[in-house]
Amino acid sequence: MRIPFIAGNWKMHKTTEQARAFARTIKEMYKGTDVRAAIFAPYTQLSALKEELRGTGIAVGAQNVHYEAQGAYTGEISIPMLSELGVDYCLIGHSERRQYFGETDESVNLKLKALLESEIKPLVCVGEDLAQREAGQALALVEKQVRAAFAGITAEKAVRTTIAYEPVWAIGTGRTATPEQANEMCACIRNVLISLYDEETADEIVIQYGGSVNPENATQIMDMEEIDGALVGGASLDPVKFMQIVDF
Ligand code: PGA
Repeated sequence: MRIPFIAGNWKMHKTTEQARAFARTIKEMYKGTDVRAAIFAPYTQLSALKEELRGTGIAVGAQNVHYEAQGAYTGEISIPMLSELGVDYCLIGHSERRQYFGETDESVNLKLKALLESEIKPLVCVGEDLAQREAGQALALVEKQVRAAFAGITAEKAVRTTIAYEPVWAIGTGRTATPEQANEMCACIRNVLISLYDEETADEIVIQYGGSVNPENATQIMDMEEIDGALVGGASLDPVKFMQIVDF
């Protein structure tokens, strides 16, 4: 049984003080156990969030990481640096990283391999853009991203990964994929996992949908058979909205 997983991606939002205030609000509201919840925050807020959320069961994630443990990579952050803060999760391959910061299928694979050697659990984002969807290439493109991300990774390691299907055209646009479109792609991703590994392994991997998820559409999305959770951008900035989604 996969436990539903709702994750907030703050992107480049909030100061540390604002993050602390947010954490104090949600920890009063979180009922725990039935749904896993995590906040993916900018690096500078991770310590404060870990401190505020200690003992609540709400996890904290980073939004990116370098695959090398150390080196001459100005401006980058490594896995040991995140581990030292007790960070629980790390996003990899978000479409904004692919689009603006040169993230590739190859670097996603290197980061996934490196994270799976650590205690930090990876959350890999995949998804097509509008032109690819309109050209009928969405399924093939997402399959390619998933295969590339998991290249050389064993089943034993792969099960610690969460996948988020985020169609680029639905991110921050208010235009959500229909629940059927999202479900179809999540089913396709699970089939790719079956072909890479086996049914048992694929059944364990949590697959989220992301793209304009809000308190109004969360229930409908979460009701879909193949969708195990949501990666929430804009609506995760508001503690009440975020918790309404967690309580879908
Ligand atoms: P959105 O962002 O919910 O604001 O569309 C989702 C994401 O980019 O993770």
